Amino acid sequence: MKWFLIFTFCIFEFLEITAQKQPVIAENGMVTSAYPDASRIGIEILKKGGNAFDAMIATEFALAVCFPIAGNIGGGGFMVCRTAKGEYDVLDYREKAPLKAHEKMYLDEKGNVIERLSIDGHLAVGVPGTVDGMIKVHQKYGSLPFKDLVQPAIDLAYKGFVLTQNEADNLNEYRSAFLRINTHTPAHLIKPEGKLWKAGDTLRQIELAQTLERIRDYGRAGFYEGKTADLIIAEMQSPQEPSRKGIITYEDLKNYQAVWRKPLIGFYKGYKIITVPPPSSGGIGILQILGMIEKYPLARWGVRDKRTLQVIIEAERRFYADRAVHLGDPDFYKVPIQKLLDKTYLQSRMKDFSFEKAGNSENIIAGNIPESEETTHYTIADKWGNVVCVTTTLNGAYGSKVMVKGAGFFLNNEMDDFSIKAGFPNLYGAIGGKANAIAPQKRMLSSMTPTIVEKDGKFDFALGTPGGTTIPTSVLQVFLNVVEFGMPLQKAIDMSRFHHQWQPDVVFMEKNAFDEKIIKELEKLGYRLQVRSSIGRVNGIRKLNNGKWEGAADSRKDDTAIGY
Ligand code: DON
Repeated sequence: MKWFLIFTFCIFEFLEITAQKQPVIAENGMVTSAYPDASRIGIEILKKGGNAFDAMIATEFALAVCFPIAGNIGGGGFMVCRTAKGEYDVLDYREKAPLKAHEKMYLDEKGNVIERLSIDGHLAVGVPGTVDGMIKVHQKYGSLPFKDLVQPAIDLAYKGFVLTQNEADNLNEYRSAFLRINTHTPAHLIKPEGKLWKAGDTLRQIELAQTLERIRDYGRAGFYEGKTADLIIAEMQSPQEPSRKGIITYEDLKNYQAVWRKPLIGFYKGYKIITVPPPSSGGIGILQILGMIEKYPLARWGVRDKRTLQVIIEAERRFYADRAVHLGDPDFYKVPIQKLLDKTYLQSRMKDFSFEKAGNSENIIAGNIPESEETTHYTIADKWGNVVCVTTTLNGAYGSKVMVKGAGFFLNNEMDDFSIKAGFPNLYGAIGGKANAIAPQKRMLSSMTPTIVEKDGKFDFALGTPGGTTIPTSVLQVFLNVVEFGMPLQKAIDMSRFHHQWQPDVVFMEKNAFDEKIIKELEKLGYRLQVRSSIGRVNGIRKLNNGKWEGAADSRKDDTAIGY
């Protein structure tokens, strides 16, 4: 029952795709993001001569304004890039547990999880990483002045932006949560009693504009120190219930540092995959699943052949079993990356798989390693050939729903991505244990999987998506749609998706993902199938043979590709 509730709660209440988008083709640069204004702001930076990293910074801040459900300055994310010279890099600007965090912080005296304490409100907040992340990107790769990259978001916040139907619906849906969790009324988000937002309304955010001005003028110190820090700390002390005060301190804010990490690299049938390492589980996830399925002739079988589906489902099941035990923040827990990606190990994982019968998660445990519903993704390419691929989040929709009074931005609820109690499912149904237990300054395990793919030493395509635990499986399935089944990127993205995450032992599928015949066949083998709200919101960019960029934005929602 608990599993069912988790998945019906899932943040994405996707409608069925009503109109299929056309890919956008352009010669110089391309931005694909979740919201039209953010893509427009990114492309304007490229047109002004900025590079993809400049456009990344402008797009990220713009998303914090026009896509507040997930775009953020109060959250964190991961970036993977491939520079024009063919070099790779990963920036981890994931949130961290505050210094006062501890393993039992979400449990009562009896050791039971206190309902929604890690999800709603002030205690759910991890120390935000986005602003330091943008500053680190700028220091290493930026070419235009930082202030010019923040300014478009400031203008957008002052002038306002026009709500789409989806975003008006989101604000209305969470209205009562905003009011329940905050002691102040975030006036610019809440229309007067009884009035709901509608498509076409303009949303202005003056306090957020002022916070962005401090970031523009003082950089890191404009967020982690001074007035913004004062407002965050004051907010921590002002929950609806005094027992639920937040624990982030000035020291936490001052200490926060995003880190450059070595990308995770893998190969699949002649393609090179460049993706993110722990503390995200996503990169390991797609490489493990690809390693397990590589020997099967998926292309020959076809994309919706029963055998193709079985092989993918069973490999997904096995990855998520490993994830629950072996993955956590590598700065705190020795993640056995090499062993998890070892070819022999991955082949051995499928030894007990049979085409005759569904696997059973009760019998699948994490491999014995030999000794020894909100996030957002955007992808940017520039005229020099730099490609930046970023997934960023507050975790749940509008994060903890805590808006910093006087500063106009939402704080994340990323603490729920820790294993708050061994075996207790998080918002996305993922379970974990020691590797992902809470510790001060530790980063919570993520599923975010921004990923770049090369063929013959050249950039081929890049993609990513929101969707909690469904992120790695969505990235994997779009990858396979392109690489195995020869689909153009747009079609590969719009194709229906399915997801298995070991526990619960259910194949979740989008409406119309499988036809009746396949459903019957899979059920006969013992698979439990369940239709759920749509899965992921992928966007990406591909380099076409004629040298042009193809931008593909998921048709499921407002994602928008703009090129020039
Ligand atoms: O880092 C993670 O894996 C999650 N916090 C991502 C959340 C997410 O994708 C929400 N979207 N549905």
